[in-house]
Amino acid sequence: MNASKQIEFEPELKLGIQNMWYPICQSGHVKERPLGLQRLGHDIVVWRDPHGKIRVHDDRCLHRGAKLSVGMVVDGVLRCAYHGWCYDTSGQCVAIPTSKIAQAKLAPRLQLESFEAHERAGLVWAYFPEDRSVPVPPLVIPEELEDPEYSGFICEAEWGANWILIMENLADPMHGPFLHGQSLTLSRGALEDDMRTTRSPDGFLVEREGQRGVNFDWSEFYCRDSIWVRLDIPLPFGPKGILRILCFATPINEDRSLVYFLRYRKLSGFKRAYWRFLYRTFWVNQHQKVIEQDRVILESLRGAQSRAAEHLANSDRGVTELRKFLREKVACRSQR
Ligand code: FES
Ligand SMILES: [Fe+2]
Repeated sequence: MNASKQIEFEPELKLGIQNMWYPICQSGHVKERPLGLQRLGHDIVVWRDPHGKIRVHDDRCLHRGAKLSVGMVVDGVLRCAYHGWCYDTSGQCVAIPTSKIAQAKLAPRLQLESFEAHERAGLVWAYFPEDRSVPVPPLVIPEELEDPEYSGFICEAEWGANWILIMENLADPMHGPFLHGQSLTLSRGALEDDMRTTRSPDGFLVEREGQRGVNFDWSEFYCRDSIWVRLDIPLPFGPKGILRILCFATPINEDRSLVYFLRYRKLSGFKRAYWRFLYRTFWVNQHQKVIEQDRVILESLRGAQSRAAEHLANSDRGVTELRKFLREKVACRSQR
């Protein structure tokens, strides 16, 4: 392949898969002021109505296109900062204070694009539809996030990498003992192994053939109406045992992503309290160093251009399977 050829990510994938739920921010970040975000290439405004329910709309005023996130919530409606046009919780324009005629004749015809949203597990989730005539499917999230036997923390970061590269990194357990070889959690195990992938009804498993329970040895992809990756990291102490990580990558735009690593443990009593204390005082910094290594390496890949000169090996079986899986997923959606 010609290394100078311009390579792009698949157009139907590069900004995320449509008709899916994505975590868009943490619940605690949506306070009394509207919050402006970019997710899946859309500028969206996230705000709370007087009942505390999260509302998500297109972040463009239908008057002149000012960002509504610069405005404010007044008496339960979202008011644009520029000329005061107001929108209710459904996105309907309900006030045009500069003109009684426009208020009567124009406002009823104007409605902002809205996105279904829920708050669960400390995150705000929004549904990004391709076809608004199709009913929104229920939001399904990993069961650990709402299982009282588990206790966890949210780790959030923004990386300068397309979401596909982040998913590929999660489908690639063999980078663990190299990229993170000096870490407390990921330094053990063999440096050479074969990989196996197994399809499930809604995803696939990628696993090392030669070891389990030693390092980052497997990851499980789930992709139906939401997409995440589940993996385990064995902790050597504090207290010793499995740290389960639920990973999400929400595209911001083609070059940036919001990543969540939700770190959960199935612990009770003293062990739970001890781990939560140690997490805040010790583990969080160790994990931060590890994901910083991931960020630096993924940002070094030059986006889709990395594919121009790549040479995949047996150990990249998870990456190949992921690409195949995602292409099949969008192909089957476009045939619906
Ligand atoms: S641009 Fe929003 S009120 Fe004028
Ligand atoms: Fe990593």
